[in-house]
Amino acid sequence: MQVVILPSAAEVGRTAAAKIAQVIERRPDAVLGLATGSSPLAIYADLAERVRQGRLRVGAVRAFALDEYVGLAPSHPQSYHHVIRRTVTEPLGLSPELVHVPDGAAADLEAAAADYEAQIRAASGVDVQILGIGANGHIGFNEPTSSFASRTRIKTLAPRTRADNARFFDAAEDVPTHCLTQGLGTILDARELVLVATGEAKAEAVHAMIEGPLSSMCPASALQLHPHALVVLDEAAAARLE
Ligand code: F6R
Repeated sequence: MQVVILPSAAEVGRTAAAKIAQVIERRPDAVLGLATGSSPLAIYADLAERVRQGRLRVGAVRAFALDEYVGLAPSHPQSYHHVIRRTVTEPLGLSPELVHVPDGAAADLEAAAADYEAQIRAASGVDVQILGIGANGHIGFNEPTSSFASRTRIKTLAPRTRADNARFFDAAEDVPTHCLTQGLGTILDARELVLVATGEAKAEAVHAMIEGPLSSMCPASALQLHPHALVVLDEAAAARLE
């Protein structure tokens, strides 16, 4: 695992974006793995600026989101279908038909999860997976005790995750209780991983991910198993590292 510590959140976004841009320059039809939440927003903004300035071409780029809430229609502003469209697909000008999000509104969620795995396989896997980390150490919505071998499936959101994400909803009880998420095994199959974390609220989880034992109690510790994992932190998120 390569760990880079930078003075500001803005530099974290720029550095991670430079890495993603490199992958796209090397392979114009690269397959990106997309996280939602606050952490990757600076990456998406930086990539969108590169596209606007004509420094990056993304017409053939393909993408798979990590996760989706169960029970929110794609038109709901907090569904990850909507969030990905608003924060990634539209600002970067990706081709919408090349951007995939798990179908959390499907009548048969298990079939939707299996279908998502099949779509990733059909695309020959993810070239570079963008990740944030939850305060409880989750990646995607793989909450503590998730198996390192897990694939895309239905998960119950931890109370802490629902509380953390309540800021995006009108009321805490509006946060869905379940999600479809790529598994840790799915994430580990990506050829490269880029995880970003900023702010002191992430310091404990970052410490457990990098310096703690490999443990399903900190799902992000699975990154220790990956041969090409880059972790980009600001000083606040790195504060608990030895
Ligand atoms: C969501 C996802 C989550 C977030 C994590 C951190 O797609 O993958 O693992 O990355 O909950 O969220 P923020 O960045 O909002 O602190």
